[in-house]
Order: sequence, then structure tokens, then C-alpha cells
Amino acid sequence: RVLDAEGNVLVPGIVDCHIHNREPGLEYKEDWESATRAAAAGGVTTVVGMPNTDPVIDRPEHLELKFERGEASAHVDFQSYAVVTSENLDLIPAIDETGALGFKIFLGSTVGDVPPPNDGEILEAMERIGKTGKRLGFHEENGEIIDHYTKRFTAEGRNEPIDHSHSRPVIAEREAVERMITFAEETDAKIHMFHVSSGSAAEAVARGKDRGVDVTAETTPHYLWFTEDVMREKGNVARVQPPIRDAEERATLWDVGIDQDTIDCIATDHAPHTPAEKKVDDPFGNTWDAISGFVGLETEVPAMLTFVDQGRLTLEEWVRRHSTRPAQVWGMYPQKGSLQVGTDADFTIVDPDREWTLADRTELHSKNCVTPFEGETFTGKAIATVVRGDIVAEDGAVVGESGYGTRVDID
Ligand code: DOR
Ligand code: ZN
Ligand code: ZN
Repeated sequence: RVLDAEGNVLVPGIVDCHIHNREPGLEYKEDWESATRAAAAGGVTTVVGMPNTDPVIDRPEHLELKFERGEASAHVDFQSYAVVTSENLDLIPAIDETGALGFKIFLGSTVGDVPPPNDGEILEAMERIGKTGKRLGFHEENGEIIDHYTKRFTAEGRNEPIDHSHSRPVIAEREAVERMITFAEETDAKIHMFHVSSGSAAEAVARGKDRGVDVTAETTPHYLWFTEDVMREKGNVARVQPPIRDAEERATLWDVGIDQDTIDCIATDHAPHTPAEKKVDDPFGNTWDAISGFVGLETEVPAMLTFVDQGRLTLEEWVRRHSTRPAQVWGMYPQKGSLQVGTDADFTIVDPDREWTLADRTELHSKNCVTPFEGETFTGKAIATVVRGDIVAEDGAVVGESGYGTRVDID
């Protein structure tokens, strides 16, 4: 089979280390099959699933179940994080041996309500995970600050989508980043900040890196693309944790995060919810009930290529952050994130000039496709996705088989 790539660009397979594939237990939102179908269509060859499923991935049996389900139905290669809570510190070595890619702590409350460990337990988790050689990532928002502002805003009767974002202020993110960096400095742990949304948090990461702490960081296309104005325009559809910030924070995120190279990875935080959960019929209604998160697997490559087209970063700088570095940060390199010549190669072919408007979310392949990128126009699109030498998607159509994808074995 010969792929005609003339006029297009072949890059190492795109690696998305932050998706909520929702299986096991939340298959009404998404499952391994539908998430990796979207990945293939979007040009993504490797995905890593988050542990806020049902059951949560907090013990070896649950991780094994998640892996089994993935082996049975994935279209692209995959991995999974395990969560650390107050209850499972003793299980860290066993979870490591079961093959988790890394660990995650949800600071504060988030979707799925995984209770955060306290500060002492976090220090202990860092020590124990340090012994495994793996990395610990954070949902980096201080829950006490969020709870306080949520109560205050609710009491004040505020009920705009924008209020809901402001009840998770930048300080909640910056403080959590700084505290976890301090803890890592003490314990020598390798840590990661998922979905950095603000320039202030990126600056905190930069200060940690300057002090020699092994802290890596990620941001998503939506924090680089939108400002909080999207809450006024699209309402709850754009609700996400952490929230989309103001223009000044976004400018600093670009400056410190991207231009000064503080942000190591681009990932989506692909987080499908049903249209009813997202309140699409009443996007400006009761914002305190609407759920956070939206899909991203099919808009991340187009969004990043659009930034390349706009001269915001080079093609190489994009590929480094969306393939090579994520693979390196999570220990999958050079198996993933490199262009190995041979029959086992993962690569994505992109047309950097292709204009595409996501006119209707039903064009996407997830089970639930609500996204604030609906209606946006992009320059650049993936036109072929190749996993271990096999074409899994061509021109947006998934041609590979469910079950072809396999767990990335890092041991
Ligand atoms: O907006 C979010 N949605 N943020 C998270 O941290 C979790 C995610 C989800 O699982 O829906
Ligand atoms: Zn998160
Ligand atoms: Zn997430």
C-alpha cells in the first residue's frame, strides 16, 4: 500500500498523554473504542487515559481491567495513569508492576470526585513513586480556594458561566503548582503539571525548573486558542477545569510557556460528556450544575497547525511538544515520539494548508462531541495516521480495526 504524501508533511506519530477515555464504567460518555477512533481520525497514534473512571484506577485489578478493555477495542496504542488517594499509598509498588505509565493526583475536587490526599500523604506518595522511577502528575488546582469562592459566588447569587470560571481563580492553580514544586524539591520526585491554563502557573513552573526541580508541564490547545470571552459567547459548552483564562494570562502562557519553552507537552484533556450533561440546550442557564470538560482529539492537530500557519511556533517546535517530549516525559521514547524507519513506525501525515471548519460537532467520532471548537476554522489537518506500520485512518475516515491498538509496554 503506497500513501501519496506529496505536498504534505510526515511527522512522528502524535502522542496525547491526557485523555479521559471513560472506560471502565462511564461508557455512556465514551469508551476505548470511540476515544481511539477519534484519535485515529485526528492524527493521534498514542493516547494515555486518565484514572477518573468507575471504578477509579487506584489498584492493580482496576488497571488490569482498563488495559484488557483497551486491548479488546482500541484503534491506536494506549496507556493509563493510576490515581493516588489517601487510601492506596501502599499499593504504589504493585500498581507500578502492573505497568501504569505514571501516577496522578487530583488536587481539589474535579469531575468524578476523586478525594485528594492531604499534604503529608502527597509527600509520602512522592517518596514512594520516586522509588519506582515513574512520574507523578497533578490536576493542579487548590480545592480549598475553589470551594471558598464557589460558596461565596453562590451566596451572592452569581450565575453566569463566567462566574463559574472565576470561582476557580488563577491563584488556585499557581499556589498548587508552587506547593507541589516545593514538595518535589524536598523529595526529589519527578512531577508533572497537567493542563496548565494560565501564564502565572507557567511562570511558577519556570521558577521550579530554574531551581533544578524535575518538573514538566503540559498545556492544551484550548488555553492557547480561546480567552475567557468564550464563556460569554458559548456558555457552559466551554466550561472546563481549570477554566479558560483572560487575554493577559493567555499572552503570558504563550510567552513563558511556549516562546520561553517552559511547557513540555501539548495534550487535549479530551473529556467527553453528554450534550445533556453539558447543558447544550441551555448554555447560559444554571451554570453551577453544568459539567466541565469537552472533547479535543480531532481538533488538537488542526489547532496546533493553525498556530504554525500563523507563525506562532514552527512545525518542529510543535512536533517536539506533541510527540517527542510527551513520549520522553512519560518514558515511552523512542518506542513512541520518534520517526523510526522500518515497518514498525508510528507517523502522522499532515496537510499544513488544508482549510477546515468544524461546521457541526457530529462530524467528530467520539460518542459525545460537545466542544467549543465547533464553528471554528483551522488551517492544517491530519490526512493519514499510521500505527506500527498500519494505516489506521485516512482523510478523516477510520480504516483500521478495533482491537489493533495495544498497550505501550515501558518495562
Ligand atoms: O474539565 C475537566 N474535565 N477537568 C478535569 O480535570 C476532569 C475532566 C473530566 O473528567 O471530565
Ligand atoms: Zn485535571
Ligand atoms: Zn483531564
